[in-house]
Amino acid sequence: MSDADVELEARLEEQEAFEPPASFVDQANVSDESIYEEFEENWPDCWTQAADMLDWEREYTEVLDDSDEPFYEWFGDGTLNASYNCIDRHLEDGNKNRVAIKWEGELGETRTYTYQDLYREVNEFAAALRELGVEEDDVVTMYMPMVPELPIAMLACARIGAPHSVVFAGFSSEALATRMNAADSEYLVTCDGYYRRGDALDHVEKANEGLDAVDHGVEAVVVKDRLGDELDHSLKGNQYDWDDLMADHLGDRVDPVERGAEDMLFLMYTSGTTGKPKGVKHTTGGYLSYVTWTSHAVLDIEPEDTYWCSADIGWITGHSYIVYGPLSLGTTTVMYEGTPDYPARDRLWELVEKYSVDIFYTAPTAIRAFMKWGSRFPEEHDLSSLRLLGTVGEPINPRAWKWYYKHIGGEECPIVDTWWQTETGGMMVTTLPGIGTMKPGSAGPPLPGIDARVVDTNGHEVDAGRAGYLTVDKPWPGMLRTLYKNDERFVEEYWEEYSDPEEDEWVYFPEDGAKIDDDGYITVLGRVDDVINVSGHRLGTMEIESAIVGVEGVAEAAVVGGDHEVKGETVYAYVITEEGYDESEDLRARIIEGVEDAIGPIARPEEVVFTPELPKTRSGKIMRRLLEDIANDEELGDTSTLRNPDVVDDIQRKVREP
Ligand code: PRX
Repeated sequence: MSDADVELEARLEEQEAFEPPASFVDQANVSDESIYEEFEENWPDCWTQAADMLDWEREYTEVLDDSDEPFYEWFGDGTLNASYNCIDRHLEDGNKNRVAIKWEGELGETRTYTYQDLYREVNEFAAALRELGVEEDDVVTMYMPMVPELPIAMLACARIGAPHSVVFAGFSSEALATRMNAADSEYLVTCDGYYRRGDALDHVEKANEGLDAVDHGVEAVVVKDRLGDELDHSLKGNQYDWDDLMADHLGDRVDPVERGAEDMLFLMYTSGTTGKPKGVKHTTGGYLSYVTWTSHAVLDIEPEDTYWCSADIGWITGHSYIVYGPLSLGTTTVMYEGTPDYPARDRLWELVEKYSVDIFYTAPTAIRAFMKWGSRFPEEHDLSSLRLLGTVGEPINPRAWKWYYKHIGGEECPIVDTWWQTETGGMMVTTLPGIGTMKPGSAGPPLPGIDARVVDTNGHEVDAGRAGYLTVDKPWPGMLRTLYKNDERFVEEYWEEYSDPEEDEWVYFPEDGAKIDDDGYITVLGRVDDVINVSGHRLGTMEIESAIVGVEGVAEAAVVGGDHEVKGETVYAYVITEEGYDESEDLRARIIEGVEDAIGPIARPEEVVFTPELPKTRSGKIMRRLLEDIANDEELGDTSTLRNPDVVDDIQRKVREP
């Protein structure tokens, strides 16, 4: 490094606040600070600003119906169609030849869909789904990697009013079956396989195993042949080839179905504190308004932009900010099939340069990996097309933030650190890039109209600098409406903790810990429930534990998150063996396999620690905090309430000298 570089590094390291560059502010979609006050004074009517970004079939007359809290309704008497809003209206605006999706496969093949192309394929697939028997409100499951057919299938479902439930392709067959069973879903769209680090992976075999475990009849399965001759697969009785169906419906058109604003757009299963994933229900009007508005205000997307969110569509980030938000705004959204390090560690930067990407949105875990690989990879490419950077999924530490700012943004792009969740539908806490001072490590203030606070266990706001719990005290259009077929669990999980129903006060609890500073900037500290965050992927420790105790030879298991340099957190499993079973390598391997089968490789335990006992309180509750401290080699908290304090030393020894 030259002296100038060293000086620059030192300056950056100390700098705690960054202003957005004037060149950005001048062109920003939102740059007037008064928006915060305006939304506050005008709440909930302020949200018409979001709803009015959409084309409604029948205009809504009521913004918010809160007569049955916490079952809120937004724009409830309006009707619209999400597929119409993401496609048809752009054709009418004269933008039919604008690129909607730029897709790049791992091996370098590319596909480009203009809005007109997308219109054609979505219509044809919608016609095919109808022919297969899919009716309005039937849940269609999708188990697909990052291929263009995934957003096409999602939008085709939206067109005919059939909610989709996308299952991340990295999840196991068992996880697929659990989700299809929970949603009573009788239709599946999948594909034969995809490429990962140059290898062709068989996906349809996993899908078929999952289908075998579905506990009700499956009407039809559509399989896209992604790998051609690379992988032979045969279709079973109720299975159809995607391309054949499309050929049968060539040129077909399907009128977008008029959906009520509160009709379900999709379900997304996510992890919670129990062993069973939760079916988060999002609706058409509120969700689409909210992701469109936040894509405009926070991601600063303009139709002329090339925008790239490197998440997977199998997670909420991809739903909201690869598919619905960007397409609703009529921009070009980039989709990449592969991993960032294939064939080399500059793959993402190569793509940014190749497509002149304007806006790039990724996860801190990826940034930590880029940092570890070194700045020479981005330096090989011209990244000057970038205007804005974003992160999501977990806290970003100031070092990673500054690395991203300097080496990817060239110190000229604001960074939005966006806090939100599957349940919130869209971004909730972040700076607005054309307005706010950025403070690395802190997401920022709540967005206009969002009443996020940091409170103590009694619900009183904490003083600046003190840790507390994040709450949201007013509803917002993008919020989940309920957990599928489980209103009771919805109220229990998100509302009971801080609400006072007798006083008609309803407070949403996202189960995150947080701090707030004197300027109202919120730093999110992480989950306070038994959910861990591995590489930005949300996993329930209970789900992993139940997979482990399902392995022959295991008596009891406790899973916690241990700190990890790149992944953020990683799975630590503490396991008690059954009488007659040894703490063997074989058992360890079967435990890992058991977790991969039940959930998928992302949940694979990094460490399996055999122990004769688990630290428990006198009432028999496992002290997870202690197990976390052990995993992280930290000073142990209070052990005096333990029934079996000696076990802690034993476990500690085992972790240090495995
Ligand atoms: O703990 C928070 C963390 O991710 C959780 C939500 O996970 P999921 O529903 O899978 O959605 C991830 C993508 C929206 C939150 O409860 N989280 C998300 N974004 C941030 C974050 N933690 C800190 N800072 C963030 N920007």
